[in-house]
Amino acid sequence: MYTVKCLNPISKQGLDLFTSEFEVIDDLNAADAVLVRSAKMHGLEIPKSLLAVARAGAGVNNIPLDEYAEKGITVFNTPGANANGVKELVVAGLLLASRDIIGGYNWVKENAKMEDLPKAIESQKKAYAGNELKGKSIGVIGLGAIGVLVANICNRLGMKVYGYDPYVSVRSAWSLSRMVNHSSSLDEIFTKCDYITLHVPCTDSTKGMIGKEAIFKMKDGVNILNFARGELVDDQAILAGLATQKVKHYVTDFPNNEVAGAESVITIPHLGASTEESEDNCAEMAVEQLMNYLENGNIVNS
Ligand code: MLT
Repeated sequence: MYTVKCLNPISKQGLDLFTSEFEVIDDLNAADAVLVRSAKMHGLEIPKSLLAVARAGAGVNNIPLDEYAEKGITVFNTPGANANGVKELVVAGLLLASRDIIGGYNWVKENAKMEDLPKAIESQKKAYAGNELKGKSIGVIGLGAIGVLVANICNRLGMKVYGYDPYVSVRSAWSLSRMVNHSSSLDEIFTKCDYITLHVPCTDSTKGMIGKEAIFKMKDGVNILNFARGELVDDQAILAGLATQKVKHYVTDFPNNEVAGAESVITIPHLGASTEESEDNCAEMAVEQLMNYLENGNIVNS
């Protein structure tokens, strides 16, 4: 019998996959394995006997990987399992940046009781007019599970898609080439794109990648979308870019006290993977990995 502690609520559809050989328990100290979503595990006291941690999601920044590697704890994640959910929210982000849906929505709500509303609406069409995505250029930085889906849908929207990923394989590059113009450098993305969307993990080499220098190279009126991790973007550089209108909108799934209230920042509370479907997919994949590892010693996505 193996014991598993969930550090966050994990979808029932995933937990139901556990066979009778597994028991979900409340006491972390008695756990053989942990299932976690976004809870920060740095500094958490874990039992010496812990064998594995499965992260129901892609990013592993909430887990002290080096420390656990030293302790012989195997860490899994679920790349791709929530990619569709994130991709769909990126499309929403693109539309919120290109069309003034938020301004128009607020105007209607504020004036809901106005006399002769239909007539007043006529006078607002110009104030909330926007642009179309078709024909605009978008740079997709990171062509992993999410980036590829985003590139594909942007291509279908009629956008000119530039992709950058130093780790993309030759084979994927070839199959992507029908929809993505491969950029050999970030500078090409920075200088050519009307929209830039980030889909890279947060590592020492990607942290702060969208900073003052990068923004300086970008087109005037660029829209930057961040559905990857907040730390990829230097807040002060973004705020300066927004103030001079070099950056038209910063769309981010990672609000913090610095940027959340700033004008032209469109933000939501980390909802990229918050769909029933993504939560089920991630939980199922995480549970299957744990069972496969603890029962058979098989390691997938560690
Ligand atoms: C991810 O890294 O896959 C997402 O941030 C997951 C989540 O929202 O839990």
